[in-house]
Amino acid sequence: MKLCVNGVVRSLTLDNRTTLLDALRETLHMTGTKKGCDHGQCGACTVLIDGRRANSCLQLAVAVGDREITTIEGLATEEGLHPLQRAFLDFDGFQCGYCTPGQICSAVGAIDEANRGWPSHVTADVAAGVGSASELDGAEIRERMSGNLCRCGAYHGIAAAVERVAKGES
Ligand code: FES
Ligand code: FES
Repeated sequence: MKLCVNGVVRSLTLDNRTTLLDALRETLHMTGTKKGCDHGQCGACTVLIDGRRANSCLQLAVAVGDREITTIEGLATEEGLHPLQRAFLDFDGFQCGYCTPGQICSAVGAIDEANRGWPSHVTADVAAGVGSASELDGAEIRERMSGNLCRCGAYHGIAAAVERVAKGES
């Protein structure tokens, strides 16, 4: 099968039960994406599939062969770090760093969702949604990032980093 990861199409031969997470880590040796629970509970394995965040431990690689996969390794450019990577550094949004790739990929997706107007569980008017990511307050950001757990408890820095980028202040 073929897998398009960070703009590069790779040819792979895989057991058809292989998850996207294992294909990335074990076959492509792209270990930025982390395995925490392998059960869709922690968010450490979050990647972007066609721009939308997803737990790669819950995706079969064969199911995403025609999709565009973006991992943490694909966020920085030759010009420098992604604004969220810079913000996580500036706000100490990590301790051991194990959850960090998933947190950052999830934040990219969360900000995009808000810019599309998608509501969250704590949006005041779910039918109206939100105007843009710049309107997100702390409660909105914590709710939208709640699928990504951090055993080090770096949530304060994580929320601050996401809020800065959501408000376009990076
Ligand atoms: Fe995928 Fe935990 S490893 S959600
Ligand atoms: Fe250690 Fe989040 S920084 S689990």
